Amino acid sequence: MNKVTIETIIEKKRHKIPITLLTAYSFPLASIIDNSGIDIILVGDSVANTELGLESTRSVTMCEMLHHAKAVRRGVRNALLVGDMPYESYQLDVSDALNNAKRFMGEAGCDAVKLEWFQKCPEVTESILKAGIPVMGHIGLTPQTADKADGFKVQGKDAERASQLIEQALLMEGLGIFSLVIECVPDILAGIITKKLKVPTIGIGAGRDCDGQALVTYDMLGLIKGRKKPKFVKEYADIYSEIKKAVGMYKEEVEHNLFPLREHSYSMKEEEAQKIIDNF
Ligand code: KIV
Repeated sequence: MNKVTIETIIEKKRHKIPITLLTAYSFPLASIIDNSGIDIILVGDSVANTELGLESTRSVTMCEMLHHAKAVRRGVRNALLVGDMPYESYQLDVSDALNNAKRFMGEAGCDAVKLEWFQKCPEVTESILKAGIPVMGHIGLTPQTADKADGFKVQGKDAERASQLIEQALLMEGLGIFSLVIECVPDILAGIITKKLKVPTIGIGAGRDCDGQALVTYDMLGLIKGRKKPKFVKEYADIYSEIKKAVGMYKEEVEHNLFPLREHSYSMKEEEAQKIIDNF
């Protein structure tokens, strides 16, 4: 497998080869995803809801993101590694934003950063790009700034909002982003944006016409139960049940003295054992 670069991703669009993106927050999962040949691994701020048990992606901090990004870096050899800039790490101040983007690259060894669209996104993106840091944009449903009443639903269903999203996409491309995540928009709209842009679009809940697809890994593995599953999530496994089964078997065997067996234990010479038995 070859190292995936920004150029690889752009070439894939030119040759109409679908791009794959999954999230990772830990070393073991990052290694599996990397070894499976996924193009882009995103250390997503979805770590908040999925790994840390928090209500909102707004609650994860820059330090926590770096901690996870460093662990993921250790497991990734080939995929392009993107660090997701958390809430308030880039919205408050342009120079803070640049500093935090540099931390993802310098401290965690990421290859690029991702920013969700917000009012001052162009200004912030420009300053990060000027420093030579590749940026992945994110439009449509943008959980960090979406308001609870109105934001957490499909975006761009009417022509006015759809036009805004097309303008955001064109503006971000004009600034020099290398790819754009489009979350939760009608498939027709994502298709129009994909056709208009030279850089690849990566859809999550944005239909079949994007240049690539993203999913949150814990969702597609079926690891988290008891939460409403968005329509766009396909579960490729039921890891929750697999883990529960294994944990249940372990409990059963320990409680019935069936684990550990001799083969799981360490031995010592009989005469040495006898000395201790005699002494104690
Ligand atoms: O944090 C995340 O997992 C994301 C994906 C929805 C792309 O931003």
